[in-house]
Amino acid sequence: MPGTMAVVNIGQLVTLTGPPRPRVGAELQELGLITGAAMLIEDGRIVAAAPYSELLPAIPPHTEVIDAGGKCVTPGFVDAHTHLVFAGNRAAEFEQRIAGATYQQIAAAGGGILRTVTATRAASVDDLLASTRQHRDWMLRSGTTTIEAKSGYGLDRATELRMLQVIARVDAEGPVRLVPTLLAAHTFPPEFAEHRAEYVRWVAEDLIPDVVAAKLARYCDAFCDLHAFTVTECRTVLKSALHHGMRLRIHAEQFRPGSGAALAAELGAATADHLETVTAEALQKLLASAVQPVLLPGSVFALARTNYPPARRMVEIGLAIVIATDFNPGSSPVASMPMILSLACVQMGLSPAEALTAATINAAWSLDLGNSIGSLEPGKEADFVIHEFEDYRELAYFIAAPFRPRVFIAGNEVTI
Ligand code: NIG
Ligand code: FE
Repeated sequence: MPGTMAVVNIGQLVTLTGPPRPRVGAELQELGLITGAAMLIEDGRIVAAAPYSELLPAIPPHTEVIDAGGKCVTPGFVDAHTHLVFAGNRAAEFEQRIAGATYQQIAAAGGGILRTVTATRAASVDDLLASTRQHRDWMLRSGTTTIEAKSGYGLDRATELRMLQVIARVDAEGPVRLVPTLLAAHTFPPEFAEHRAEYVRWVAEDLIPDVVAAKLARYCDAFCDLHAFTVTECRTVLKSALHHGMRLRIHAEQFRPGSGAALAAELGAATADHLETVTAEALQKLLASAVQPVLLPGSVFALARTNYPPARRMVEIGLAIVIATDFNPGSSPVASMPMILSLACVQMGLSPAEALTAATINAAWSLDLGNSIGSLEPGKEADFVIHEFEDYRELAYFIAAPFRPRVFIAGNEVTI
């Protein structure tokens, strides 16, 4: 928004002021709280965040004033792992899983990711745009202002490119910021089921250069696991991505230990995501290579599993953890970051402050956006949420509360 704006009467402002890097150890608890605060915003960026009494003299006359009503204000959530774009849904598989089938049995019987691939290949651009906007709006309503979004339900050139183009369009139309990731190595498409090496070669040598040339993805991801891609196959894909200038994120160690975390460290990936079965030894490798773990408790919860990743141990050894929804039609139909904060606290033992840091500034750094979003500091984009409550701990505590926060992106209030 051009011009100046002041947000006043903020009961509790979570600034997350701190060093310009991901937060580790005890820093995860440091929210940079200011009580009785105000923010001054100019042309969509934060100029000052301070106690109201200090800021008052700096507010020019005739400034547009937003009254936060004494409530809590936080940075908008940065959801650093989602499968935002897909057609249809898998509610029938949800029912099958409740009746006893496993995620992997369903996949082996032709369901799972491939069911969504079939639906997504058949969907028109307009259908995909409509469902993607709906998913984005669910996230926005719960306070998410930046979304990492993966391809991976096309697995052929036309559909992978269409998914990435949908992400680019939804990003361009705003207001939510989207970060695109190529996930062509999500599963093997039926045409290549008997020709794995050929598919890997096609992704590495044909698709990746074209996606990079068209500037359609900043990150490349691969699903490294049992029934997915082997470490060797992932290495081929991800090395090509690196060679072409992409950064890496890896679905690692969700089902099988030894699948992916060491590779993430070897290749200097930005993130290793999931990590439900990760070993202590692999965690040390992530630490040595400054790979950020992205923890996805929604997928553990929705698959009725209990092996949440060892978040406390990660914090203890100094890893810069991130939490995200993993929003997707199979393992995590969870769009709400507040729900993820609740799961992170109740099931993984994070404190509400640690969870909030992992969902904002650390998530921003994992997307290489830590200098512009993720905290409410001078110079940053004014992406923030005025909550309905006064104390940030209520966010995780009122589990699945139908809160209706006021959401601002680049200083503009979003009407949803
Ligand atoms: O992150 N693990 C692989 N991919 C997704 C699930 C995708 C799906 O089931 O459609 C995940 O959990
Ligand atoms: Fe995922």
